[in-house]
Amino acid sequence: MSEPVEKGMVHMKEKIKSRTETIERILKAYLPKEEETPSAVVKAMNYSVNAGGKRLRPMLMSETYRLFGGSETVIEPFMAAIEMIHTYSLVHDDLPAMDNDEYRRGKKTTWVQYGEAVAILAGDGLLNYAFETALKAFACEGADAQRIARALSILANKAGIYGMIGGQDADIAAEEANEAPALSQLLYIHEHKTAALIQASMMIGAVLAGADDAALSTIEKAAYEIGIAFQIQDDILDVTSTFEELGKPIGSDEKNNKTTYVTLKGISEASREQKELSDHAIGLLESFTKQGFQNEFLTDLVKSLITRLK
Ligand code: IPE
Ligand code: IPE
Ligand code: MG
Ligand code: MG
Ligand code: MG
Repeated sequence: MSEPVEKGMVHMKEKIKSRTETIERILKAYLPKEEETPSAVVKAMNYSVNAGGKRLRPMLMSETYRLFGGSETVIEPFMAAIEMIHTYSLVHDDLPAMDNDEYRRGKKTTWVQYGEAVAILAGDGLLNYAFETALKAFACEGADAQRIARALSILANKAGIYGMIGGQDADIAAEEANEAPALSQLLYIHEHKTAALIQASMMIGAVLAGADDAALSTIEKAAYEIGIAFQIQDDILDVTSTFEELGKPIGSDEKNNKTTYVTLKGISEASREQKELSDHAIGLLESFTKQGFQNEFLTDLVKSLITRLK
């Protein structure tokens, strides 16, 4: 009985691997060329992106694009752009003034490797370069100016003060406050610091494929749930995993006196809720089947996040 499940898991691992390789190729094509621009900031930008990572956001983006029938190269600059923005958020998140962490993706963090000043600039550089990159979509095959403009606006909004930056700000404010944040505040933090970029990923995939407004709003909801579940699992792994597995220090939240889903609810309740959120999101994605939109890999990918170990 267990064999088909295990075979399915091996199969999924292979599918994820081949998609990750495609994303690596796309990233490589869009990153700045060190030979052309030999500067510390460009080296540090490439160091942080090339350090690896799961590449989850570009994968969710391209698979949502495929869900709604997209098949052109116009998605690629946006896939590179979202990974640049995500990586910049990590470079800044690790700085001494923020989480003060020394390892990321199995390597020294950018500030440890290049110094704080260059790490700050590398983060800034990646954010700006993300938009320079996304703008290249206008020159791609299948470019639809209105859709691209809408995708750019989603990217800007979900990465900014109404999205990821807003969440990181609230995260730091909660750390500095005298009392622990309430659950509603923690959900605000998780929604903005983490779910927002996952929403951007999936919504941009949907918009570029021409999904209608109703579909876009369902995707925004599903991505919210996937994002909250993803950050809950990140909070759990910060307690239960190992440095070797994660490639980043465990116990970072405790060190920073951070209230997390785990400190508020305990590991087993946090786990139960992350599965419940993920299952609901999967239901939303599967609801598109009746309109003729289906992507089994995408739902399997979201399922695999429930039990992810890194
Ligand atoms: C880490 O994101 C930061 C969070 C939002 C929890 P990932 O777990 O996706 O990190 P990488 O990209 O795989 O390194
Ligand atoms: C960070 O959350 C989310 C970001 C926007 C970078 P964490 O601070 O928990 O992420 P990790 O655990 O350092 O990857
Ligand atoms: Mg943080
Ligand atoms: Mg951190
Ligand atoms: Mg964390």
